[in-house]
Amino acid sequence: MPTLLEMEQLKKSHADSPGTLLFSNVSAAAARHDRVALLGMSGQGKSTLLRILSLLDIADEGDIRLEGISSRQIDPIEWRKAVCYVAQQAVMLPGSVEDNLRTVHQLHRIPYDAPLVGKLLAQAGLETIDLSKNAADLSGGEKQRIALIRSLLLRPKILLLDEITASLDQSNAIRVEELLQQWHRQEGTAMIWVTHQLEQAARISDYVWFMGDHTLLEKTPAKQFFEQPKTGLARKFLNQPLDRGELCLS
Ligand SMILES: Nc1ncnc2c1ncn2[C@@H]1O[C@H](COP(=O)(O)OP(=O)(O)OP(=O)(O)O)[C@@H](O)[C@H]1O
Ligand SMILES: [Mg+2]
Repeated sequence: MPTLLEMEQLKKSHADSPGTLLFSNVSAAAARHDRVALLGMSGQGKSTLLRILSLLDIADEGDIRLEGISSRQIDPIEWRKAVCYVAQQAVMLPGSVEDNLRTVHQLHRIPYDAPLVGKLLAQAGLETIDLSKNAADLSGGEKQRIALIRSLLLRPKILLLDEITASLDQSNAIRVEELLQQWHRQEGTAMIWVTHQLEQAARISDYVWFMGDHTLLEKTPAKQFFEQPKTGLARKFLNQPLDRGELCLS
């Protein structure tokens, strides 16, 4: 499968203390159709990495490429249409829910697909939502799902999903997971999905990228990561027993 999104030797320092390294030597590639779970302890820079990949932040060093072309050579609006970041704290644009859903179409001059919107709302458990309601008045979980649907309507090549089910109850979290699995089967959209729920990570991923020690420590097929992680840090993260050598070092 040809490479879709590549990152090469990315380095980033902490925003609040520029001398302190957040991560470096971050190199990886995702192909079309890949589903990647991006895992790691809090504060490792997972959200920062996704924001860099969607050009909402910039790396101190390194390059990112979409289908072989550097982000420096692509209009950022075109890039973000193809590489779409869905934040944990969804940001609603001013206006109604429907205004929010229509905005992407106006911005990118593509027709509004009302039947698709209806289908996605139902799949996300929002079939009874009042589209004329002020988007600012939605609950956190409703905003999150509207933001996700707004992103899907762009038909991006790759979705960057940042803990998007974290504020949903279990049944709605599963609905969103199934919606995305179905979308993936039908559209082939690649996904890099940050989650702290390991069962969810195992369900939704083909590969795991594990951040630790200020870098991307493991890039492994998901089954292998969960059964036999290569590093002691990943074993610790998964709450698996460390081997004797690692016990001495920790
Ligand atoms: N724009 C930024 N540039 C550099 N550092 C940042 C930026 N935003 C946040 N940080 C800092 O980088 C560190 C990593 O933050 P980030 O939110 O990327 O971690 P994370 O792995 O997503 O954590 P969590 O699992 O808790 O969401 C934090 O110390 C944070 O304060
Ligand atoms: Mg984060």
